[in-house]
Amino acid sequence: METNLLLFIILLLSIVFNIALAYTVHKKQNQNKKLSIQLQKLKDLSTKFRDMVTQREDVFYKNLHNISVSFVKDVSESYLIYFDGDVGRVVSYVGGKNRATIIDKKVIKTELPYSANRVYVVNGSELKHIDFGPSQDKGIDSNDSKVLISDIHIGGELKAKLLIERQEPFVDEEIDMIKSLSGFFTSFIATHNYVSNQGRFEKDMILTMIRILEYHDTYTKGHSKNVATIASLIAEKLGLNDELIRKTYWAALVHDVGKIVVPSSILNKESKLTIEEFEVVKKHPVYGHDFLSTSPELRDLARYVFHHHERWDGKGYPAGISGEEIPLISRIIMVADSWDAMRSDRPYRKGLSKERAMEEILKHSGAQFDPNIAKIFIKMLADGEIQ
Ligand SMILES: [Fe+2]
Repeated sequence: METNLLLFIILLLSIVFNIALAYTVHKKQNQNKKLSIQLQKLKDLSTKFRDMVTQREDVFYKNLHNISVSFVKDVSESYLIYFDGDVGRVVSYVGGKNRATIIDKKVIKTELPYSANRVYVVNGSELKHIDFGPSQDKGIDSNDSKVLISDIHIGGELKAKLLIERQEPFVDEEIDMIKSLSGFFTSFIATHNYVSNQGRFEKDMILTMIRILEYHDTYTKGHSKNVATIASLIAEKLGLNDELIRKTYWAALVHDVGKIVVPSSILNKESKLTIEEFEVVKKHPVYGHDFLSTSPELRDLARYVFHHHERWDGKGYPAGISGEEIPLISRIIMVADSWDAMRSDRPYRKGLSKERAMEEILKHSGAQFDPNIAKIFIKMLADGEIQ
């Protein structure tokens, strides 16, 4: 999470810069009261910061948009448009029209007004040709309104446009405030894009590793995904928060990734393993941990993977720790992994029936498995929540 911390610091500096800018405006215009309210709004933003950057795209834009609109009074309509090349789409809308008909609407960049000033005001008539919504009588296309436009550039490219329409002219103070916000939003959008892309990259990387493993160890096919689904259901039942449920899913998905370096002659061997061969297999949680701990973002997952063969009674491996010393997510994976392994057919035996496998879980509860997780898991099976 060091990268996120760095981003957080950069963003925090950006807030400080913008607050300083707003403060200059404040001195210049001597409108103490109004501005101090706006400064307070900017300060309040910093507390929401971390969460907002990692929000889902639609939620992120909606929040960003609502914040900007809150700085201007009597807004009739407002659009936030995000561009991918020359084509943009409306990602958020504030106003009286039917949102569903406006969100995702395509807009061509060159058809919108542009100014090197970055923040500028145009007449509503200049946007007349752009039919944002079904209503023509009141909105951005009306002739006598004013539209405040803020262009958000990232890396020299126009990435987003904020359009705020109202009937009354805009005053300098409002334009200055939107100007200071636009610098703030540039860093915000850039960071959000970075965080989202990074998430995507990690997911792709993990899924690729799983595919490689499935090639290498035919038995793993489908197993990783089953374990991930079961483990995240247990995590949910245990009342873990969304972040931990997500981590449970991903850690369970990659729990056996260290098997990539175990010779396939051992992994796919149909007869019983020798003691030496079993010692090699036993190294896979350590290898998995080593792969994953190269990325700071995956370090938590690495720890859960490292301990997924620990037993409640301390007779597991690689660390031989026991009880609650074992991370909770690793204890969940232990149950889900054993369940799926017992239920699956192997070259040398057929998978156990649901009833027989349930008996096994109960039998080893408190020895191999965390008794509380085993109890909850058995109840979920009995209630048909897991097949
Ligand atoms: Fe394993």
